[in-house]
Amino acid sequence: MGRSGRKAVADHLPRLRSEWRLDFVVVNGENATNGMGLSGDHAKGLLEAGADCVTLGDHAFDQKDMMQAIEQDQRIIRPINFAKGAPGRGYRLFDAPGGRKILVAQVLGQVFMKRPFDDPFSAIEPVLKSHPPGGRAQAIIVDMHCEATSEKMAMGHYCDGRASLVVGTHTHVPTADAQVLPKGTGYLTDAGMCGDYDSVIGMDKAEPMRRFITGMPKSRFTPALGEATLSGIYLETDDRTGKATRTKMIRVGGRLEQAGP
Ligand SMILES: [Fe+2]
Repeated sequence: MGRSGRKAVADHLPRLRSEWRLDFVVVNGENATNGMGLSGDHAKGLLEAGADCVTLGDHAFDQKDMMQAIEQDQRIIRPINFAKGAPGRGYRLFDAPGGRKILVAQVLGQVFMKRPFDDPFSAIEPVLKSHPPGGRAQAIIVDMHCEATSEKMAMGHYCDGRASLVVGTHTHVPTADAQVLPKGTGYLTDAGMCGDYDSVIGMDKAEPMRRFITGMPKSRFTPALGEATLSGIYLETDDRTGKATRTKMIRVGGRLEQAGP
Protein backbone atom coordinates (compact mmCIF):
# COMPACT_ATOMS: atom_id res chain seq x y z
CA MET A 1 0.00 0.00 0.00
CA GLY A 2 1.73 3.15 -1.28
CA ARG A 3 5.26 4.25 -0.56
CA SER A 4 5.22 3.00 3.07
CA GLY A 5 4.23 -0.47 1.94
CA ARG A 6 6.91 -0.57 -0.76
CA LYS A 7 9.49 0.53 1.79
CA ALA A 8 8.42 -2.18 4.27
CA VAL A 9 8.83 -4.84 1.58
CA ALA A 10 12.24 -3.46 0.55
CA ASP A 11 13.39 -3.10 4.20
CA HIS A 12 12.23 -6.48 5.55
CA LEU A 13 11.84 -9.00 2.75
CA PRO A 14 15.53 -9.67 1.95
CA ARG A 15 16.20 -10.42 5.65
CA LEU A 16 13.04 -12.52 6.10
CA ARG A 17 13.88 -14.56 3.00
CA SER A 18 17.18 -15.67 4.50
CA GLU A 19 16.18 -15.84 8.20
CA TRP A 20 13.06 -17.89 7.55
CA ARG A 21 14.65 -19.75 4.60
CA LEU A 22 11.77 -18.92 2.28
CA ASP A 23 11.66 -20.88 -0.99
CA PHE A 24 9.05 -18.72 -2.66
CA VAL A 25 7.48 -15.34 -1.95
CA VAL A 26 4.26 -13.92 -3.39
CA VAL A 27 3.49 -10.22 -2.90
CA ASN A 28 0.09 -8.72 -3.67
CA GLY A 29 1.09 -5.42 -5.21
CA GLU A 30 -2.15 -3.97 -6.48
CA ASN A 31 -2.17 -0.72 -4.50
CA ALA A 32 1.56 -0.18 -4.12
CA THR A 33 1.52 2.80 -6.50
CA ASN A 34 0.01 5.71 -4.60
CA GLY A 35 -2.80 3.46 -3.36
CA MET A 36 -4.08 2.89 -6.92
CA GLY A 37 -2.91 -0.12 -8.87
CA LEU A 38 0.72 -0.91 -9.60
CA SER A 39 3.13 0.65 -12.08
CA GLY A 40 5.69 -1.36 -14.02
CA ASP A 41 8.54 0.31 -12.10
CA HIS A 42 7.04 -0.45 -8.73
CA ALA A 43 6.37 -4.06 -9.75
CA LYS A 44 10.06 -4.27 -10.64
CA GLY A 45 10.96 -2.87 -7.21
CA LEU A 46 8.89 -5.53 -5.42
CA LEU A 47 10.48 -8.28 -7.53
CA GLU A 48 13.97 -6.89 -6.88
CA ALA A 49 13.24 -6.81 -3.13
CA GLY A 50 12.72 -10.58 -3.23
CA ALA A 51 9.22 -11.35 -4.49
CA ASP A 52 9.12 -14.32 -6.88
CA CYS A 53 5.61 -13.41 -8.02
CA VAL A 54 3.48 -10.26 -7.79
CA THR A 55 -0.30 -10.54 -7.90
CA LEU A 56 -2.67 -7.68 -8.78
CA GLY A 57 -6.44 -7.44 -8.18
CA ASP A 58 -9.53 -5.45 -9.17
CA HIS A 59 -7.25 -2.40 -9.65
CA ALA A 60 -4.87 -4.38 -11.87
CA PHE A 61 -4.71 -1.78 -14.64
CA ASP A 62 -5.32 1.48 -12.75
CA GLN A 63 -1.75 2.35 -13.75
CA LYS A 64 -1.87 2.27 -17.54
CA ASP A 65 1.67 1.03 -18.05
CA MET A 66 0.74 -2.26 -16.32
CA MET A 67 -0.91 -3.26 -19.62
CA GLN A 68 2.60 -3.52 -21.14
CA ALA A 69 4.49 -4.48 -17.96
CA ILE A 70 2.38 -7.60 -17.39
CA GLU A 71 3.10 -8.79 -20.93
CA GLN A 72 6.83 -8.17 -20.49
CA ASP A 73 7.26 -9.83 -17.08
CA GLN A 74 5.56 -13.17 -16.58
CA ARG A 75 6.09 -13.00 -12.82
CA ILE A 76 3.14 -10.58 -12.62
CA ILE A 77 -0.28 -12.27 -12.31
CA ARG A 78 -3.69 -10.63 -12.69
CA PRO A 79 -7.03 -12.20 -11.70
CA ILE A 80 -8.17 -15.05 -13.97
CA ASN A 81 -11.65 -13.54 -14.19
CA PHE A 82 -10.65 -9.84 -14.53
CA ALA A 83 -12.11 -9.38 -18.01
CA LYS A 84 -12.16 -11.25 -21.27
CA GLY A 85 -9.23 -10.08 -23.37
CA ALA A 86 -7.31 -8.53 -20.43
CA PRO A 87 -3.55 -8.55 -21.01
CA GLY A 88 -1.34 -10.91 -19.04
CA ARG A 89 -2.27 -14.17 -17.33
CA GLY A 90 -4.34 -15.28 -14.34
CA TYR A 91 -2.11 -18.13 -13.29
CA ARG A 92 1.36 -19.48 -13.98
CA LEU A 93 3.63 -22.36 -13.07
CA PHE A 94 6.81 -20.95 -11.48
CA ASP A 95 10.20 -22.58 -10.94
CA ALA A 96 11.21 -22.90 -7.30
CA PRO A 97 14.50 -24.11 -5.76
CA GLY A 98 15.32 -27.80 -6.05
CA GLY A 99 13.59 -28.25 -9.41
CA ARG A 100 10.18 -27.85 -7.82
CA LYS A 101 7.23 -26.05 -9.42
CA ILE A 102 4.74 -23.72 -7.76
CA LEU A 103 1.46 -22.70 -9.32
CA VAL A 104 0.15 -19.25 -8.42
CA ALA A 105 -3.37 -18.23 -9.43
CA GLN A 106 -5.44 -15.19 -8.58
CA VAL A 107 -9.22 -14.93 -8.73
CA LEU A 108 -11.70 -12.13 -7.96
CA GLY A 109 -14.79 -12.54 -5.82
CA GLN A 110 -18.19 -11.03 -6.59
CA VAL A 111 -19.70 -9.89 -3.28
CA PHE A 112 -19.51 -6.11 -2.61
CA MET A 113 -17.11 -5.56 -5.53
CA LYS A 114 -17.56 -2.39 -7.60
CA ARG A 115 -17.59 -4.20 -10.94
CA PRO A 116 -19.36 -7.49 -11.72
CA PHE A 117 -16.80 -10.24 -12.29
CA ASP A 118 -17.39 -13.76 -13.58
CA ASP A 119 -18.03 -16.53 -11.07
CA PRO A 120 -14.70 -17.19 -9.29
CA PHE A 121 -15.50 -20.83 -8.53
CA SER A 122 -15.96 -21.85 -12.15
CA ALA A 123 -12.96 -19.66 -13.07
CA ILE A 124 -10.57 -21.50 -10.72
CA GLU A 125 -11.99 -24.99 -11.40
CA PRO A 126 -10.12 -25.78 -14.66
CA VAL A 127 -6.85 -24.54 -13.13
CA LEU A 128 -7.23 -26.84 -10.13
CA LYS A 129 -8.34 -29.72 -12.32
CA SER A 130 -5.32 -29.47 -14.62
CA HIS A 131 -2.87 -29.17 -11.68
CA PRO A 132 -3.67 -31.90 -9.14
CA PRO A 133 -1.68 -31.59 -5.89
CA GLY A 134 1.52 -33.61 -5.93
CA GLY A 135 1.46 -33.69 -9.74
CA ARG A 136 3.21 -31.15 -11.96
CA ALA A 137 3.21 -28.57 -9.17
CA GLN A 138 4.61 -29.25 -5.70
CA ALA A 139 2.55 -26.36 -4.30
CA ILE A 140 -0.54 -24.49 -5.47
CA ILE A 141 -1.31 -20.99 -4.20
CA VAL A 142 -4.68 -19.32 -4.78
CA ASP A 143 -4.98 -15.59 -4.07
CA MET A 144 -8.71 -14.92 -3.54
CA HIS A 145 -9.06 -11.18 -4.03
CA CYS A 146 -12.36 -9.91 -2.67
CA GLU A 147 -14.23 -8.07 0.02
CA ALA A 148 -16.44 -10.59 1.82
CA THR A 149 -14.96 -12.92 4.44
CA SER A 150 -17.74 -15.43 3.72
CA GLU A 151 -16.89 -15.66 0.02
CA LYS A 152 -13.20 -16.17 0.84
CA MET A 153 -14.02 -18.94 3.33
CA ALA A 154 -16.24 -20.62 0.76
CA MET A 155 -13.34 -20.51 -1.73
CA GLY A 156 -11.03 -21.99 0.92
CA HIS A 157 -13.35 -24.97 1.37
CA TYR A 158 -13.96 -25.24 -2.40
CA CYS A 159 -10.20 -25.64 -2.92
CA ASP A 160 -9.61 -27.77 0.21
CA GLY A 161 -7.39 -30.71 -0.65
CA ARG A 162 -6.73 -29.28 -4.13
CA ALA A 163 -4.60 -26.23 -3.26
CA SER A 164 -1.73 -25.78 -0.81
CA LEU A 165 -2.99 -22.35 0.19
CA VAL A 166 -6.00 -20.12 -0.29
CA VAL A 167 -5.22 -16.64 0.96
CA GLY A 168 -7.50 -13.62 0.81
CA THR A 169 -6.37 -10.17 -0.24
CA HIS A 170 -8.10 -6.83 -0.97
CA THR A 171 -9.49 -5.65 2.39
CA HIS A 172 -6.07 -4.44 3.64
CA VAL A 173 -7.08 -5.69 7.11
CA PRO A 174 -5.44 -8.93 8.31
CA THR A 175 -7.57 -11.63 9.87
CA ALA A 176 -6.46 -14.00 12.65
CA ASP A 177 -7.80 -17.30 11.32
CA ALA A 178 -4.69 -18.88 9.74
CA GLN A 179 -5.29 -22.64 9.73
CA VAL A 180 -4.94 -25.86 7.78
CA LEU A 181 -8.39 -26.90 6.51
CA PRO A 182 -9.56 -30.54 7.01
CA LYS A 183 -8.30 -31.83 3.64
CA GLY A 184 -4.93 -30.07 3.83
CA THR A 185 -5.27 -26.60 2.32
CA GLY A 186 -3.62 -23.76 4.26
CA TYR A 187 -6.02 -20.87 4.67
CA LEU A 188 -6.15 -17.24 5.80
CA THR A 189 -9.21 -15.05 5.16
CA ASP A 190 -7.10 -11.93 4.54
CA ALA A 191 -3.35 -11.43 4.56
CA GLY A 192 -3.73 -7.73 5.37
CA MET A 193 -1.63 -5.01 3.80
CA CYS A 194 1.97 -3.97 3.90
CA GLY A 195 1.08 -0.43 4.90
CA ASP A 196 0.67 2.14 7.65
CA TYR A 197 -2.08 0.95 10.01
CA ASP A 198 -2.53 4.44 11.51
CA SER A 199 -4.88 5.05 8.59
CA VAL A 200 -8.19 4.02 7.04
CA ILE A 201 -7.19 0.87 5.13
CA GLY A 202 -3.86 2.47 4.26
CA MET A 203 -5.14 5.91 3.26
CA ASP A 204 -4.31 9.02 5.26
CA LYS A 205 -7.23 9.01 7.70
CA ALA A 206 -8.38 12.66 7.42
CA GLU A 207 -10.18 12.48 4.06
CA PRO A 208 -11.90 9.09 4.50
CA MET A 209 -13.08 10.18 7.96
CA ARG A 210 -14.40 13.46 6.53
CA ARG A 211 -16.33 11.60 3.85
CA PHE A 212 -17.83 9.16 6.34
CA ILE A 213 -18.76 11.90 8.82
CA THR A 214 -19.95 14.65 6.47
CA GLY A 215 -20.52 12.90 3.14
CA MET A 216 -18.63 15.78 1.51
CA PRO A 217 -15.33 15.00 -0.28
CA LYS A 218 -12.73 17.75 0.01
CA SER A 219 -9.55 16.27 -1.41
CA ARG A 220 -8.17 13.11 -2.96
CA PHE A 221 -7.29 10.00 -0.99
CA THR A 222 -3.55 9.76 -0.38
CA PRO A 223 -1.70 6.84 1.22
CA ALA A 224 -0.67 7.24 4.87
CA LEU A 225 3.08 7.67 5.13
CA GLY A 226 3.91 6.35 8.62
CA GLU A 227 5.91 3.18 9.21
CA ALA A 228 4.24 0.21 7.59
CA THR A 229 3.62 -3.23 9.00
CA LEU A 230 4.49 -6.03 6.59
CA SER A 231 1.53 -8.43 6.90
CA GLY A 232 1.02 -11.83 5.36
CA ILE A 233 1.08 -15.56 5.83
CA TYR A 234 3.94 -18.02 6.22
CA LEU A 235 3.26 -21.49 4.82
CA GLU A 236 5.04 -24.83 4.94
CA THR A 237 3.99 -27.59 2.56
CA ASP A 238 4.69 -31.26 1.89
CA ASP A 239 6.30 -31.50 -1.59
CA ARG A 240 4.94 -35.00 -2.10
CA THR A 241 1.26 -34.21 -1.49
CA GLY A 242 1.18 -30.45 -2.07
CA LYS A 243 -0.66 -30.08 1.22
CA ALA A 244 -0.02 -27.50 3.92
CA THR A 245 1.73 -28.66 7.06
CA ARG A 246 1.91 -25.31 8.85
CA THR A 247 0.50 -21.80 8.52
CA LYS A 248 1.27 -18.72 10.55
CA MET A 249 0.26 -15.12 10.15
CA ILE A 250 3.11 -12.64 9.80
CA ARG A 251 3.22 -9.06 11.09
CA VAL A 252 6.60 -7.34 10.98
CA GLY A 253 7.34 -3.72 11.90
CA GLY A 254 5.06 -0.75 12.44
CA ARG A 255 2.02 -0.77 14.72
CA LEU A 256 1.10 -4.47 14.36
CA GLU A 257 4.59 -5.89 14.92
CA GLN A 258 4.49 -9.50 16.18
CA ALA A 259 6.86 -12.45 16.25
CA GLY A 260 7.54 -14.29 12.96
CA PRO A 261 7.56 -18.07 12.34
FE1 LIG B 1 -8.44 -4.88 -4.53
